[in-house]
Amino acid sequence: MTRNSSDNAYLLDNQQAEAGERFAALSALFDPSTFRHFETVGVGAGWRCWEVGAGGPTVPAWLAERVGPAGHVVATDIDTSWMREAAGYEVLRHDVAAQAPPEGGPFDLIHARLVLVHVADRDQALRSMAEALRPGGWLVVEDGDPALLPQICP
Ligand SMILES: C[S@@+](CC[C@H](N)C(=O)[O-])C[C@H]1O[C@@H](n2cnc3c(N)ncnc32)[C@H](O)[C@@H]1O
Repeated sequence: MTRNSSDNAYLLDNQQAEAGERFAALSALFDPSTFRHFETVGVGAGWRCWEVGAGGPTVPAWLAERVGPAGHVVATDIDTSWMREAAGYEVLRHDVAAQAPPEGGPFDLIHARLVLVHVADRDQALRSMAEALRPGGWLVVEDGDPALLPQICP
């Protein structure tokens, strides 16, 4: 079956078979630098983490291993098809711009990678994430600026 963009409000939705390949590619490209950021802020045993718009499993799995049994990781997404709860983290279907933060906070770390660029009400999403942090906790946002694309790919 062929799909076109009018079939779906979200062009890159996670129901497509290619989504798994896309998440694997994002992971290969960006996980090393993401994990360096986590090391820099000191993610460690016992931390409570919220992975926003997780998509695939690699980031929440890394966090779950790092925080260990004393910590907690919740991975949220509007479509959780590509995550497995058995991997040691909680999986929750959740819209970061429309719903209150998940239970389990306040969080030591909240991370969103390549998510806000897809969210229309990103002010609300940012506010919600900031409010779910413990005092002194870390909000790590990694995102792209589509306005730069024409300069990178002329
Ligand atoms: C480009 S993917 C990035 C996935 C993952 N963060 C990564 O870097 O590999 C964007 C993800 O954001 C999710 N997403 C889009 N809008 C969202 C929203 N309002 N709330 C939560 N997740 C959302 C999508 O379902 C998708 O899994």
